[in-house]
Amino acid sequence: MAVIADRCPGIQVTLVDLNAARIAAWNDPNLSRLPVYEPGLADVVGRCRGRNLHFTTEVDGAIASADMVFLSVNTPTKTRGLGAGQASDLRWIEASARQVAAQATGHTIVVEKSTLPVRTAETIKEILGASQALGTEGSKSFSVLSNPEFLAEGTAITDLENPDRVLIGGEDPDAINALAEIYGHWVNPERILRTNLWSSELSKLTANAFLAQRISSINAIAALCEATGADVKEVARAIGADSRLGSKFLSAGPGFGGSCFRKDILNLVYLCRHYGLEEAAHYWEQVVDFNSWQQQRIARLVVRKLFGTVSGKRLAVLGFAFKADTNDTRESPAIGICHDLLEEGAHLAIHDPKAAPQQIATDLACPPSSPGQGLAELGSWDVATDVREAVEGADAVIVLTEWSQFRRLDWNSLASRMRRPAWLFDVRAITDAEAARAAGLKVWRVGEG
Ligand code: UGA
Repeated sequence: MAVIADRCPGIQVTLVDLNAARIAAWNDPNLSRLPVYEPGLADVVGRCRGRNLHFTTEVDGAIASADMVFLSVNTPTKTRGLGAGQASDLRWIEASARQVAAQATGHTIVVEKSTLPVRTAETIKEILGASQALGTEGSKSFSVLSNPEFLAEGTAITDLENPDRVLIGGEDPDAINALAEIYGHWVNPERILRTNLWSSELSKLTANAFLAQRISSINAIAALCEATGADVKEVARAIGADSRLGSKFLSAGPGFGGSCFRKDILNLVYLCRHYGLEEAAHYWEQVVDFNSWQQQRIARLVVRKLFGTVSGKRLAVLGFAFKADTNDTRESPAIGICHDLLEEGAHLAIHDPKAAPQQIATDLACPPSSPGQGLAELGSWDVATDVREAVEGADAVIVLTEWSQFRRLDWNSLASRMRRPAWLFDVRAITDAEAARAAGLKVWRVGEG
């Protein structure tokens, strides 16, 4: 929405949320304190806020005056009831649709921005249609569009400014044109794809499923490379040169994280099962199962290399966010890996440039140890403010997120602070392994045989 405001100064964009603290944070005069860390975002918000970008809790008024409403609420995986563990929880979508139905005036275009199961638009249309039929407050009418988002965290602003494609699904040509016109301010019309509603919804789930599948595929090959003496980076370069495969999304690592991939694939699995396509459901389920295995094998491997026990050992964990350039830790592979190491009794010194310590505590479901504790039978963890502090006296360094600063570490100086024999586990294959070896560290790198 901030990018739309930036590119379309003639359009007033109002972001509404029921959460007053969140809205207050978005209105914070200090742009470095915005609730989401995303490169370039503070600049865009700084340019537009108060001009044509507004943040408010006045939900009803904003809906009433809007020509177009984007539903961008979260749709987490259900934790209980029908479809628990797989289906999306649509309660917030339904609540927002009802609120739009009640408050809208005149003709309103309702755009599904949240990632939704296929045919959710039907539910939204039904709710809006019911209020249209009532026609209590003059005439109101609605058009529903699907406009899924393809940006990735960490590169959100550039992804939005130069999208590979914009996808608009719908049945009402006027509504589709109205939304296409907004994107047309900066996106080449050839990149604006128009489909029917269901194709658009399904394309979003499919894109994420294919991307996630590619990561599981390269991670499977990485394990084989480690066993056979091949190097997954060389294999990735060789296969990526095939224009049919392409070179992107071929980095082996600790497995995919983030709020989307797992949720969207499980959604796809649920849909396949719902339509009786058990084999298709099983096929996609494997991508998620394999991802869990990859995370578990990293923790097991660290324990094995450290003489079969990490109890009481200090391990420096570099990176906790699910990928670089974000403070987001949702579904981060670091959570499972750290959890498994804590179970083994390790003391973890965790350093991440952006992830908040309170968030890490929530994710690990235990508070950081107070000074003087640790090195006990049960594992414990603490935040280290920098890499040097993290590695002090450590038996191993484990690189879990590909932050650029971890690519350029001074291994001579770091190695001298560690307890020997000391290990580097480079789970993202980004560090200078030769320099680390030269500094006397034993090195394990994902996908390197
Ligand atoms: C993903 C998609 O890439 C976006 O297109 C989509 O819009 C978004 O989900 C969404 O549905 O909202 P995101 O989860 O932000 O974006 O980040 P990705 O860059 O896709 O990374 C996901 C995970 O895969 C991360 O844990 C990352 O480290 C991992 N990954 C990515 C790899 O392990 N190897 C790779 O080669 C690429």
